[in-house]
Amino acid sequence: MLTQAFTTDTNSALITDVRLGLTKSGQKELPSKYLYDSVGSALFEVISVLPEYGLTRADERLLRRYSEDIVARLTPPTTVAELGSGSGKKTRWMLEALSKHQHVSYCPIEISRTALNMCERELGDIDSVSIVGFEREYLDGLLEVAARRQKREQLLVLFLGSTIGNFEHPADVKFLCQMRAILQSGDALLLGTDLMKPIHQLLDAYDDPLGVTAAFNLNLLARINRELDADFIIPQFEHVARFNQAVGSMEMHIRSLQKQTVAIPTADLSVTFLEGETIWTESSHKYSLGEISGIAASAGFRVDAQWIDEEWPFAENLLIAE
Ligand SMILES: C[S@@+](CC[C@H](N)C(=O)[O-])C[C@H]1O[C@@H](n2cnc3c(N)ncnc32)[C@H](O)[C@@H]1O
Repeated sequence: MLTQAFTTDTNSALITDVRLGLTKSGQKELPSKYLYDSVGSALFEVISVLPEYGLTRADERLLRRYSEDIVARLTPPTTVAELGSGSGKKTRWMLEALSKHQHVSYCPIEISRTALNMCERELGDIDSVSIVGFEREYLDGLLEVAARRQKREQLLVLFLGSTIGNFEHPADVKFLCQMRAILQSGDALLLGTDLMKPIHQLLDAYDDPLGVTAAFNLNLLARINRELDADFIIPQFEHVARFNQAVGSMEMHIRSLQKQTVAIPTADLSVTFLEGETIWTESSHKYSLGEISGIAASAGFRVDAQWIDEEWPFAENLLIAE
């Protein structure tokens, strides 16, 4: 196994985004990518095994059942890049199926070094797979992987766990267009998408009774305390999960329980929160099958095949770059 990591400094980006997001007029917001520091990545692993959060198990069931069928539709030799791999547990099914036919180069692209380390530990034992990890933003990492591929090699991009749903429409189409611009015709994208389901089930999934999702969300304030020397008093804020009917997305917010002012010295900032005011920290869009084909077509992909989990409605979509 060959393992390399390319590091990047996120501190100045965090300062810029905290300044922009917390001084916005109207709804305050922080980008969801900052949920994943070492604490956040570990908490996400726990969320993925909670009984209320069926999404990861549905994604995993589909990959376990259909990885051979998915691989049969590729045109090898194929290099695999994974955007936001997390711990990479589910990816084992794809890598094992593909490595029966060829030596596989697997490139997880992760903003979280903790996730990248977990992924390399999780998948490092598979025969005929070499791992090169990129500690990068999605598209920066994909550009590097694409630049290193051999001529006539197909690229398979994995974007699992319905992470695409974190992009609010039309940002999802824009992101897929940017990805398509890096790919060549005939390259493949395996896109995991959570489908619409009863709202009470979604509310339970994003606000579990143990409070793990609440800790995951509030850790964002704790991270800003740790990294930017801020003085958020965490018990004076609470986690909120709500379904936004107008856009068909679950949203996570952090609500201020009282009027308060927070200092963030490293960002040279002082922010006042009204009682009840929220910071919007994440969206998770819930798709319909028609919507997926529409988004794919708008971004220059055709849907080659779809596999659906009935237990927790979820679709694995194999898209081919036109
Ligand atoms: C919702 S988790 C999904 C993890 C895994 N793919 C799964 O399905 O369980 C999203 C992952 O993407 C990573 N991530 C979030 N924003 C990113 C970005 N802009 N660039 C690279 N990685 C990012 C996070 O660190 C996290 O591990």
